[in-house]
Amino acid sequence: MTDNIAKRDNFGSKFGIIAAAAGSAVGLGNIWKFPYVAGENGGGAFLLIYLFFVMVIGVPVMMSEFAIGRRGQKNAYGSFNSIAPGKKWGLIGLIGVVAAFFILAFYTTVAGWTLEYIINSVTNKFAAQTPKDLEISFNAFISSSVRPVIWQLVFMVLTALIVLAGVKKGIEKYTKMLMPLLFVLILILCIRSVTLDGAREGLAFLFKPDFSKVTGKTFLYALGQAFFSLSLGMGALITYSSYFSKKENLASTAVQVALSDSLIAIMAGIMIFPAVFSFGIEPGCGPSLVFITLPGIFEQMPGGGIFGIIFFILLAVAALTSTISLLEVVVAYFSEELKISRKKATLIATVAVSVLGVFATLSFGSLDNVTLFGKSIFDVLDYTASNVLLPLGGLFIVLFVGWFAGRKITKSELSNEGSLKVRYFPYFNFIVKFIAPVAIAAIFIYSIFWGGLG
Ligand code: PHE
Repeated sequence: MTDNIAKRDNFGSKFGIIAAAAGSAVGLGNIWKFPYVAGENGGGAFLLIYLFFVMVIGVPVMMSEFAIGRRGQKNAYGSFNSIAPGKKWGLIGLIGVVAAFFILAFYTTVAGWTLEYIINSVTNKFAAQTPKDLEISFNAFISSSVRPVIWQLVFMVLTALIVLAGVKKGIEKYTKMLMPLLFVLILILCIRSVTLDGAREGLAFLFKPDFSKVTGKTFLYALGQAFFSLSLGMGALITYSSYFSKKENLASTAVQVALSDSLIAIMAGIMIFPAVFSFGIEPGCGPSLVFITLPGIFEQMPGGGIFGIIFFILLAVAALTSTISLLEVVVAYFSEELKISRKKATLIATVAVSVLGVFATLSFGSLDNVTLFGKSIFDVLDYTASNVLLPLGGLFIVLFVGWFAGRKITKSELSNEGSLKVRYFPYFNFIVKFIAPVAIAAIFIYSIFWGGLG
């Protein structure tokens, strides 16, 4: 009964929980952002720092979100209120709802582009295009007013249909199919890439530790990337964990999700850089790497047409399992706090996000003259969410768990009311009380005062 707001839906299996949470984490952030940021910031050296942050700060923050959600049994806002009634902590959840809104708006712009590129690969539209042609056609496409908007809306509707079907019959069912598919697709592309002549140079770019490139900034980039990539700081994982069973081991789930996310990020690098280097191309960054450089490479590769199709399907799948988790944050909030049916909540959220999303999409074309602090609408949404709202949310989440909720609540949640051994608890407690708040505050202050982590 999707319309029944009294009884909450739940995940039905352990694999469903991992698939959904890893699906949220694995997304566009892993596939185009991670490889490039790693390559540019010292390769293997960045990787080591990144993995250190994922395990030492990311995992405890994720455990904190899981503990809040499963204890609170509500949406991101309501969970804080049920643990700390009558206090203002719910505001953190509200920041998360706003962040979900913003991220969805710009994320579906790019997700929509992946659909256009699936069609382009299937219809072999890249054939015989020079790199310059590919660049021109990409720029012409993203700055046009109709197709990118239509694809964005198609993506939004797909997301909404899955969310509408509920936690078990929608989110769990689809992520359980899509995540294994994603893994197989990325594995095929990795194998293709490392078996190309000259793959070694690409692997060296990604893995060879170059400590001379490591500066203070590298640490901040690594932490920022860890937060975005693990979907932390905005309540997606609070919302999901409110549907976890009481028997779920929160710590081991957090470790498994963090490992899957890191594995896919590393695989994305293995898929991209050997191909880029073996064709003697300078690795571009961001959208141009994925939408201009790679189609150019697929075109020159034996059997490239099919690998192009696989690649863009991979991107779309990765994006979809993330947009589902973002929309669920807004839908759970609307339906539980406004006491409306899930159907109505999904409809309202989808329409509202789409309106904002269309502005983000058009900011590459007809609205490119609309700027705020010199940034386009797309960049304002990205910057505000990734560099302001996520770190702020993350900071308050660890402060809440470390200082407010109290050892008793956190410990009983992490140990499933005492039935699991939690020998790690003193370390966890120390991290959420001191280490994580200081580290997150540092990245936050840095990104506000020194202009962005990109
Ligand atoms: N983790 C996703 C990615 O790497 C993005 C995301 C952030 C999804 C926050 C949900 C919440 O692409």
